[in-house]
Amino acid sequence: MTPALILHGGAGAVTPSALQAERRSGLTAAFEAGWGILVRGGTALDAVVQATVTLEDHPLFNAGFGSCLTEDGTVEVDASLMDGSTFQTGAVGAARNIKNAIRLAWEVMADGRHVFLVGQGAERFAREHGLPQAAADELIAPRQHQRWQALRLGSGQAQRTNGEPGTVGAVALDSSGRLAAATSTGGVFDKRSGRVGDSAVIGAGTYADSAMGACSATGDGEQIIRATLARTAVELLRGGKDPAQAARTALAHLTRRTRGEAGLILLDPFGRRGVAYTTESMSVAFRAEGCLVVRV
Ligand code: GLY
Repeated sequence: MTPALILHGGAGAVTPSALQAERRSGLTAAFEAGWGILVRGGTALDAVVQATVTLEDHPLFNAGFGSCLTEDGTVEVDASLMDGSTFQTGAVGAARNIKNAIRLAWEVMADGRHVFLVGQGAERFAREHGLPQAAADELIAPRQHQRWQALRLGSGQAQRTNGEPGTVGAVALDSSGRLAAATSTGGVFDKRSGRVGDSAVIGAGTYADSAMGACSATGDGEQIIRATLARTAVELLRGGKDPAQAARTALAHLTRRTRGEAGLILLDPFGRRGVAYTTESMSVAFRAEGCLVVRV
């Protein structure tokens, strides 16, 4: 089976032109990291993790280093992943000092005792499993710190939405027909400490079932949770339905029931893709007719 991979770098406002080249190169590097695994016969799960780690390490995406800040000026990350062939999942929420939340979600999944850890419990689990820890300020990208300061100084209301990047996510199909999805984020700018969004919630931000499809979502986290957006999109693939149409229908459901704005990426078991968003823009990377397409 021919593998497939699709990434997003968040739905929201149009990327300012000054940031486009850097975001494009980040998405390209992440795609190559995941695609390299798939073409060497690796698993969809490894591909989505590696692509997501690459985006978490990039300062111009809202995940890992580059995460937006809470109202307290801290970084608290959410992430989840799902293996559509084993139905195994792992998720973490509101975790501090974690360099790569998606690796922590993977460890939660591999450990198997629980599927979702949050806050101090997640941080302790990370230490016990030898995951790299970051000092609190190491994860704060200068751009996000300026944005937070501007809001505190009263000049930054526009900073809430001003072309800032969103959540990152990846969906892959490997050569053995396994589907997997991963999502990682710093959440929403100026959120309350302890807030957990859709990116940590299986069925909302992330879902995968190798028999039907896999999805990663981005956008208004509270509304995406209410609409269980990722699971809804995958369910709409039942009976071999077209992923492009399923993606649009899932977002129409979100709009109708919650008024939330979002984007999503979707793959079906044949490697057909769906990409849709109701925001102004969504950054994506995928292969079409043998060529890499990157939109920022
Ligand atoms: N979609 C990211 C969040 O709301 O946290």
